[in-house]
Amino acid sequence: MLECFFVVVFFHPSQAPRLPKAGETIHGHKFFIGFGGKGANQCIQAARLGVKTAMICKVGKDFFGDNYIQNFKDNDVHTDFVWQTSDAATGAASITVNDAGENAIVIVAGANMRLGEEELQKALTAIRKAKVLVCQLEISSQTSLRALQMAHDNKVRTIFNPAPAIPDLDFGFYRVSDVFCCNESEAELLTGYSVNNVEDAHQAAQELLRRGCTAVIITLGPQGCVVLKAQDKTSTHVPSTAVKAVDTTGAGDSFIGALAFYLAHHPDMPLEEMARRANQVAAVSVQAVGTQTSFPFKRDLPADLF
Ligand SMILES: Nc1ncnc2c1ncn2[C@@H]1O[C@H](COP(=O)(O)OP(=O)(O)O)[C@@H](O)[C@H]1O
Ligand SMILES: *[C@@H]1O[C@H](CO)[C@@H](O)[C@H](O)[C@H]1NC(C)=O
Repeated sequence: MLECFFVVVFFHPSQAPRLPKAGETIHGHKFFIGFGGKGANQCIQAARLGVKTAMICKVGKDFFGDNYIQNFKDNDVHTDFVWQTSDAATGAASITVNDAGENAIVIVAGANMRLGEEELQKALTAIRKAKVLVCQLEISSQTSLRALQMAHDNKVRTIFNPAPAIPDLDFGFYRVSDVFCCNESEAELLTGYSVNNVEDAHQAAQELLRRGCTAVIITLGPQGCVVLKAQDKTSTHVPSTAVKAVDTTGAGDSFIGALAFYLAHHPDMPLEEMARRANQVAAVSVQAVGTQTSFPFKRDLPADLF
C-alpha cells in the first residue's frame, strides 16, 4: 500500500519593498526557506491523512537536498526512492515579494531533470505494489509519462496533474491517466477553451475526456470542482463549502493529496464523493498561511471524512 509521488523544489522567498533592478542590491524585510514542489506537497498531504507514501525523486547532494529528505522523514514519507546527485543542485525557486504583493520568481529545476528511466526501473517493484501513482510535470515530461505508463501497465491507478501545464502535451498522457486533474488555467491552456466558470469547466472536461483519460477533475478554487467520468455522459459540479480563505497557495496540491488518499483507502468510493471530501480537506488548507504548513493532519479533520 505504497503511494508514489514525484517531486520537486526547495523555495526561498524574500520580502523586499520592491523588486530589484538588474545589477541592483536592495535590503529586504524577511527571508525564509520552505519546502515545495507539487509532488512533494501532494505526497505530504496524503501522508498526513494516514496513507503510506513514497516519493520518487532526485535532489542534489547539498544542504538543501539533505533538508528536503529530512522533511519527508518528518512527514512519514518513505525516502528509499529519493536519490541525491552531485551532478546538479537541488531544485529551487527563489521568490522575491514586494510590498505590493507582486513577485518575481526564478525556478531552477536542477536535479529534478536528472530523474530518468534508470531510477524508474529501481522503483518499479514499489510502483507495481502501489495502489496509486501520482505524477506532475515538474520533472522531465518523458520520465513522468514513463512512470504513468509503468503504473498503468501494472493496473496501478494513476492521478496525473499536468502542472505546470505545457500547451502541446503528449496525448499519451491522457491514455494513461485514470484521473486527469488540473485547475482552470491548466484546462484552458490544454484545451484552448476559456475556462472561467462552472459551465466552461463542464465543456473543457468533455474535451479532456475525449483525449482518452478515464476521468477528469477540474478544480475551481472556491467553487470546488467539476468531475467527469468516461462512463457518464455529463459532468457533475461538486461545490466546496464557503470558508474564509487566508492563503490559497497549495490548495490544488492539498486537493490532489487528499484525492490520492481516497483512491488508496476507499478505491470503490464514487469519484464525486472523493472529490467532495477532497474539497473539504483543501478548504481547511486555505484557512491557514503557507503551503505544507497549511495542510491538515487526520487529527485536525472530522472523522466522517475518513
Ligand atoms: N477560497 C476557497 N474556498 C474553499 N475552497 C477552496 C478555495 N480555494 C481553493 N479551494 C479548494 O482547493 C481546491 C483547489 O483550488 P484551486 O484554486 O482550483 O487550485 P490551484 O491551487 O491549483 O490553483 C478547490 O477545488 C477547492 O476544493
Ligand atoms: C493553476 O495552477 C498553476 C500552477 O500550475 C498556477 O500558476 C495558476 O495560478 C493556477 N490557476 C488558478 C486559476 O488557480
